[in-house]
Amino acid sequence: MRLVLVGPPGAGKGTQAEIIAERLGIPKISTGDIFRANVSGGTPLGLKAKEYMDAGDLVPDEVTNEMVADRLAQDDAADGFLLDGYPRNTEQAKVLDGILKAAGAELDLALELVASDDEVVRRLSGRRVSKSTGKVYHLEFDPPADPDSDDLYQRSDDRPETIKNRLKVYAEQTAPLVGYYEAQGKLVEIDAIGEVDEVTARALTAIGAAE
Ligand code: AP5
Ligand code: MG
Repeated sequence: MRLVLVGPPGAGKGTQAEIIAERLGIPKISTGDIFRANVSGGTPLGLKAKEYMDAGDLVPDEVTNEMVADRLAQDDAADGFLLDGYPRNTEQAKVLDGILKAAGAELDLALELVASDDEVVRRLSGRRVSKSTGKVYHLEFDPPADPDSDDLYQRSDDRPETIKNRLKVYAEQTAPLVGYYEAQGKLVEIDAIGEVDEVTARALTAIGAAE
């Protein structure tokens, strides 16, 4: 199964991608995670991406598209994948269609996680990540054992000013993807409000993989 997850920052894309990809036995490919790993590793790719990420803007398409093309060319993605955070504009969606077409494949579905601005701001503001395990918590909705632990950090783009710009960038550049995939008959809307398990169940039902 070849899937993409679309949705505003904080809608729960990463949370759901982890669970759904494991359930379906396909790799989860999160462009945000790949960029963040490169930023912490100080790689040339990380250096290019950092200023855009800190501002909440999109990293330029040529950088992002090449990175995704390389990742999709790896063996584990040959029969399926779940992309989290890519594509993020219509240009990237066209590039993805081209990459798949060249490989004799096509996308199955685009899952849109739908959540209000108020809810995503609440989710982003309370998000904390474990340095040692990478696990994502929420101070209120999925609290870590010790909320004051030195092991926890807040993502640098989860500051209020950056959240505001990420929402603006989503509305202006990413939301048009919904129409793009609707026109291809591939869009499925998933209500992202509710418990994590409920949202997962809705997504699995929508893709016909519910147990
Ligand atoms: P990226 O890392 O993709 O960030 P994002 O899209 O802003 O989304 P987030 O990761 O913030 O949120 P999420 O939807 O994954 O939510 P999560 O599951 O963590 O991108 C970061 C940056 O990288 C971009 O700004 C850009 O600069 C660059 N970039 C990435 N891809 C790019 C591309 N294709 N092109 C160009 N640039 C790109 O959940 C959030 C919180 O809510 C957590 O605390 C979680 O515990 C909690 N939560 C989750 N589900 C629920 C629920 N059901 N109920 C209550 N709480 C919940
Ligand atoms: Mg994420």
